Amino acid sequence: MKPPIPPELIVALDVPDRAALSVALERLPPALDFFKIGLELFCALGPEALTLVRRRKGRIFLDLKLHDIPRTVERAVRAAAAEIELLTVHAAGGPAMIRAAAEAARALGGARPRILAVTVLTSLDAADLAAIGVTRSPAEQVVALAELAMESGADGVVCSPQEVAALRRRLGPEAYLVTPGIRPTGAAAGDQKRVATPAQAARDGASAVVVGRPILDAADPAAAAAAILEELRAGAVS
Ligand code: C5P
Repeated sequence: MKPPIPPELIVALDVPDRAALSVALERLPPALDFFKIGLELFCALGPEALTLVRRRKGRIFLDLKLHDIPRTVERAVRAAAAEIELLTVHAAGGPAMIRAAAEAARALGGARPRILAVTVLTSLDAADLAAIGVTRSPAEQVVALAELAMESGADGVVCSPQEVAALRRRLGPEAYLVTPGIRPTGAAAGDQKRVATPAQAARDGASAVVVGRPILDAADPAAAAAAILEELRAGAVS
């Protein structure tokens, strides 16, 4: 499975309940068909969240960041993964856990999900890593965990916009690299600190970008999405 060019646009459905999900999906144009369901929505609605997104023929990135013993993760992947395209696990779960997730996904056959590894949460700095016994810098730890994840059978990595270019160089063309923290040219950063434009993410080799508020909170979500798609295309050819 070669990563797509230009990068895919995934909308983060960061909403708290069924009513807010319906409003969000109704406001989005049909051209947007790839959605991230994260912990908030999954904890609120469970598998119903997936059903509601599938009802509008949406493709699903299930961002559960699994981290447990290999057997538990393998069984969670088997239970969750039918008709899901992307599923996250924590690389810090170690090689056996990543391999268990990757093998459970592969056993699903053709329409299997890609397993993506989360390396170092961007909320952690060097002092936080030191507090849990990690003496490498965050940047070194990201590369080390990303390489470990790929060697253990993961299909790709979730990373910050700052890390995409280096990880693309290290991991090669096959790795599926997903980056949040995307802000279109001229948009408010909000609480995101390390942001990049869609064009920059495309130039750096992202396979997909995750965008939430710049689309969901826009007065005209269709126009906001169209502008981002255009930036992704422009960046991919430049
Ligand atoms: O609204 P916004 O575009 O900032 O949403 C980005 C999405 O990506 C959210 O679901 C957020 O939780 C997720 N994310 C992030 N930064 C990370 C990891 C995940 O913004 N480092």
